[in-house]
Amino acid sequence: MGSELTYRGHETQSMADSYSPKLKKPWPAVTRVVRYMLKEQRLVFILVGIAIATVFFGLRSATTISSGRITDAYSVSEAVQMMNPRRSVYPTGFDSFNLGGKIPLGLKRKGLRIVVTGGAGFVGSHLVDRLIARGDSVIVVDNFFTGNKDNVMHHFGNPRFELIRHDVVEPLLLEVDQIYHLACPASPVHYKYNPTNVVGTLNMLGLAKRVGARFLLTSTSEVYGDPLQHPQVETYWGNVNPIGVRSCYDEGKRTAETLTMDYHRGAGVEVRIARIFNTYGPRMCIDDGRVVSNFVAQALRKEPMTVYGDGKQTRSFQFVSDLVEGLMRLMEGEHVGPFNLGNPGEFTMLELAQVVQETIDPNAKIEFRPNTEDDPHKRKPDITKAKELLGWKPKVPLRKGLPMMVSDFRQRIFGDQKNIGATATTTSTTE
Ligand SMILES: NC(=O)c1ccc[n+]([C@@H]2O[C@H](COP(=O)([O-])OP(=O)(O)OC[C@H]3O[C@@H](n4cnc5c(N)ncnc54)[C@H](O)[C@@H]3O)[C@@H](O)[C@H]2O)c1
Repeated sequence: MGSELTYRGHETQSMADSYSPKLKKPWPAVTRVVRYMLKEQRLVFILVGIAIATVFFGLRSATTISSGRITDAYSVSEAVQMMNPRRSVYPTGFDSFNLGGKIPLGLKRKGLRIVVTGGAGFVGSHLVDRLIARGDSVIVVDNFFTGNKDNVMHHFGNPRFELIRHDVVEPLLLEVDQIYHLACPASPVHYKYNPTNVVGTLNMLGLAKRVGARFLLTSTSEVYGDPLQHPQVETYWGNVNPIGVRSCYDEGKRTAETLTMDYHRGAGVEVRIARIFNTYGPRMCIDDGRVVSNFVAQALRKEPMTVYGDGKQTRSFQFVSDLVEGLMRLMEGEHVGPFNLGNPGEFTMLELAQVVQETIDPNAKIEFRPNTEDDPHKRKPDITKAKELLGWKPKVPLRKGLPMMVSDFRQRIFGDQKNIGATATTTSTTE
């Protein structure tokens, strides 16, 4: 009994003294684990296992890139197939298209939600074809100023495709992952009546910021103006007349680039900038005054091809499938840009007229007219940066690409009687 009455306050006291609000670290347990791993070289085996797995997956993703999905995403002959303007025919494997090997191998790439502004236009509609074929969901936003529903109607009924008639100078809210911003009339015949570059770009950047989407701007080689450097490198700042007839387009795109970089630096928006050089191909607007469509339409209609000035000014011509490939690589890659996307093959206007004669009609005539204001004398992209950082270069030469465009124009001009008789000589531009 006596023992039960023994004072035990000193035990409580010592427990109170050793109390700490932090849990004691279980050092003995950690050292046990370390000792276990060191024993019989288990740690070495674990590290070797990790190294083998890293090398294996690294090699697998590198092979995926170089074995055709990326580097040879398409060849010239596949481009021919893809260029059926009313139907999309794509090589298999595009739906698992994987740029940069970021997606775990063996897993199918999850489709993205993508807005293409200007997606009913010439370049936009070809881009939409590729994105849909890759497995993405695409929303085209277009006011049909120069675009046409016919360019995308083969996607009607596809649950992954939506078309919204909307002018990008008005704000718009959509939940998307990526925004390809192409909406903008690209030929002088049209852009002087509807300069949308600044406000449209501002609205789409605002959308990108709000929903955390990646934004790609389709700028232009026109930002170099009448260049004093040849060929043009991205670091060249250009020689643009700020008050000329073309400046709403040239300066508009320069401002669009400025806004894009400001949203990137100031608001952390992920952006990409492409500077596109002259592009041609099926679905180009027939009478928009651009030089390739002018010559082709005139030669088909047995009209003389109008050459402005002495015809010695040069341009380089890129087939549309090459451009689309470059735009997608840019969007999926890690670099902001700007990147020149164009074909460095340089032609004078007279040489271009000659290729059109060879392709359509050897007897097609040439007619000279006075040149238009601020028409650049030379244009040729330096694409070193795109080659090195995007692994991109154009594949379709003019003599291969032009016949694909000609057969589309032939069908549209002679298949649609309304177009016959209209002339393609309204305004000249060598873009
Ligand atoms: N094709 C080229 O050679 C070339 C060269 C340099 C830059 N680009 C740029 O590439 C983009 C696409 O050019 P494209 O050749 O396909 O021209 P395009 O005229 O065929 O396409 C432009 C599309 O944008 C739409 N659009 C115009 N204004 C709009 C607005 N306010 N709101 C919504 N939609 C609008 C048009 O209806 C059309 O569908 C343009 O931004 C252009 O500046 C093209």
